[in-house]
Amino acid sequence: MAIRNLRFEKDEILKKRSREVENIDEKIQILIDDMLETMYKFNGVGLSAVQVGILKRVIVIDIDDGTGPKILINPKIVKTKGEHEVEEGCLSFPNQYAKLLRPKEVTVEALDRHGKKITIKAKELLAQALCHEIDHLDGVVFVDKMIPGTLEHVETQEDIKNK
Ligand code: NI
Repeated sequence: MAIRNLRFEKDEILKKRSREVENIDEKIQILIDDMLETMYKFNGVGLSAVQVGILKRVIVIDIDDGTGPKILINPKIVKTKGEHEVEEGCLSFPNQYAKLLRPKEVTVEALDRHGKKITIKAKELLAQALCHEIDHLDGVVFVDKMIPGTLEHVETQEDIKNK
């Protein structure tokens, strides 16, 4: 496994649509393992392949609820319910947070890493993370959808020290 380089906000690749995975081959398995390692390294709750420069419809999520990582290939939102205001950030937009509206609940269909069809019914943070990562696969980032005027830049102690 290896930590891959993240792509950041000004990188045009983040605006591109990712392609469906047709063969879940060895390369995809390595990509998944690297994405998991990269997500954990940077303390993210989710990561899409495009964020490590690969335009394939693969996402990983771990909301740290003890159920372990979720790995989804070719995920599709098939149902949403409700809407609420949430705060959101993204590993490609370090130290930036904004408010946006997301569904309260979603149903997502996808393939797991073995090619088995899975359905995930999610609410709250998991629903939010699924929407966020699936948006990435369509070239959409959270600031595209934010409620105007809610973007905040938060400097960490670490950033201040490094100045
Ligand atoms: Ni993101």
